[in-house]
Amino acid sequence: MRQTLVAGNWKLNGSKESIQTLVKGIADGMSGVDGKAVAVCPPYVYIPMVSELAAGTGIAVGAQDVADQESGAFTGEVSAAMLKDVGCQYVIVGHSERRSLYCEKDEDTAAKYVAAQKEGLTPILCVGELLEERESGDTENVVAKQLDAVLSLAGVESLANAVIAYEPVWAIGTGKTATPEQAQEVHAFIRGKIAALDASVAEKVQILYGGSMNGSNAAELLAMEDIDGGLIGGASLTPDAFLAICTA
Ligand code: 13P
Repeated sequence: MRQTLVAGNWKLNGSKESIQTLVKGIADGMSGVDGKAVAVCPPYVYIPMVSELAAGTGIAVGAQDVADQESGAFTGEVSAAMLKDVGCQYVIVGHSERRSLYCEKDEDTAAKYVAAQKEGLTPILCVGELLEERESGDTENVVAKQLDAVLSLAGVESLANAVIAYEPVWAIGTGKTATPEQAQEVHAFIRGKIAALDASVAEKVQILYGGSMNGSNAAELLAMEDIDGGLIGGASLTPDAFLAICTA
């Protein structure tokens, strides 16, 4: 049985004050979260504070991105070792906003994935298609290509220590959630592709859904066979909305 993981991606949101309130609010509701793992991914500068606030609450901490380099002259970058040092367990790599707004290529994402694992962080590898790619029937090709970049650099066995997040780009921040059937279809495709290489890794790897998930649609998405949790944007920014998904 795969454990369900609900992870909040706070993106470029929050302040010291609002984040303290948010973490305390989530921590207060953790007793109602049965058997699911819960993580939050704050902006870099708030990670040490969140690690302290989250200690002993059962809330894990992640980052939203990571450098593909270990150290040196890379102005503005934050390494996997640094993230580990300030309490991160997870790091999101290849989010569609990194891909589209910051020109991150499949190969860049794969290098970040490797850098994260090298330090013992669990990468949350994001994949997903644009609306026009879905409409032209290219969803599986796009997702396969995104996965292949990681498989060829890190090997299928690396997925035993990783999480995949299927985030259809057209569902992110739009209020237009994939139906449980649409999401399940792609999740099953991803698991099947991995199973063709290594059945036991495929059985183990958590595949999260992301894209306008909220307290009203979480239960039916999470009930699908190959959906092992959620990567939550907007609804992770208030304790009630996030806990509604964690307890769905
Ligand atoms: P929303 O939940 O706001 O659609 O964002 C999803 C997402 O991008 C999580 O990484």
